[in-house]
Amino acid sequence: MTSNSRLWSDATLDRFKRSADPLADDCIAALLASGDVEHANQVLAHLDGNGTLPADTPAALAAFLAETAQLPEGTDAVRLQRAQAFFTTYGAQFGVSLLCRSLPVLYTGRQGGAQILASTGKLTEHFERRASETLRFILDAAQPGGLAPGGAGLLTIRKVRLMHAAIRHFARMSSNWPTGRWHVQWGEPINQEELVGTMLAFSLEAMAGLRELGVPVTRQDMEDQLYLWKTIGYVLGITPAAMPRDIPEARKVWKALARRNFGASPDGILLTQAHVAFLQQNLPAPAHGLVPALMSTLLGRRNATYLGLHSGGNWEWAIALLRLLFRIKARLAGSSHTAQSFMGLYGHALMEGLQQHWAGKDPGKPFRIPQGMGGPAATPATVAVSQP
Ligand code: HEM
Repeated sequence: MTSNSRLWSDATLDRFKRSADPLADDCIAALLASGDVEHANQVLAHLDGNGTLPADTPAALAAFLAETAQLPEGTDAVRLQRAQAFFTTYGAQFGVSLLCRSLPVLYTGRQGGAQILASTGKLTEHFERRASETLRFILDAAQPGGLAPGGAGLLTIRKVRLMHAAIRHFARMSSNWPTGRWHVQWGEPINQEELVGTMLAFSLEAMAGLRELGVPVTRQDMEDQLYLWKTIGYVLGITPAAMPRDIPEARKVWKALARRNFGASPDGILLTQAHVAFLQQNLPAPAHGLVPALMSTLLGRRNATYLGLHSGGNWEWAIALLRLLFRIKARLAGSSHTAQSFMGLYGHALMEGLQQHWAGKDPGKPFRIPQGMGGPAATPATVAVSQP
């Protein structure tokens, strides 16, 4: 591709759909061949981000870590800091947007995406662990300094990159798919098209959700968040050629991804049911109906329908109240630096607390390279989720 202008064309996206992540895939292949995955997990669990490796580190892991230790040349540190500060100021609002828009919209990936998420069994059976790890990932990467050399984010992202490569390996080998093998038309498991889509769900879509929740978001804020997530995406193995240049391009790519692959699937519905039930567990029973209502509002009618969410019930008042609250907080943040840094501290403490709460039941070392994947998810019993 000579320019970015055709990034959203079918020909280009088809190519990304058939592309994976050779650097991480080769590392995992070597670790599996030498029987060193558990050893690699031990090394990764004890790394402190400063890059000092034990002498007996498997060679493939050492080479991968050396190759991925830097951000792309010319990375704008000031812009990253601005995006990270914005994220921290609106931590609580981001939490709602990520949980009720960015994550569930991924379940509309009807071919490949939802199946692979459901097949690891992690989302449905160990939802809390997955939620706590996802939040840990975001906090490590989006907190100020997280992407600096030796920062927690840089290491976490590379661990997840290896997790993805292992899942990719086992997905290709597994016979637990409906026809007994991975479908060629799904492209590569966790392919470049899906990786870009997920990167946009965490940036473009999260910011759209924030706007929907009453947070005043400027164009510059949008561009900064995209920049932050493209940087995270680079370390995670997304090929630079697949990255949209700016927000207008990102919107075109997102639209193309929706046209190509968003839809209903039994796995998507099952994941949504588990996601709703998980969020409801964290709320008092009378507020349970708010979860599907808020998710439907943030996702929009089409995506909500794909996921079997009905926006019934009378929760508009609660959503309007939430918007009002977030608007007041945004005004407060804009009023002075002191108010902004207070909100940053408070938002950060809230997200940290939530992450530790979810990790509490399974506090082992996070981000382990898996050594296999679970069986296929069960058929969803009913499509409806609880209503107020
Ligand atoms: C920007 C892109 C992405 C980010 C930031 C991201 C982030 C993460 C994080 C933080 C985890 C660890 C939490 C956990 O254990 O579940 C994870 C695991 C996982 N991701 Fe991703 N992911 C991305 C793209 C994708 C895509 C495109 C797919 C599939 C289509 C995918 C499938 C998975 C699976 C199956 C696991 C579970 C591994 C396990 O639990 O053993 N991810 N990802």
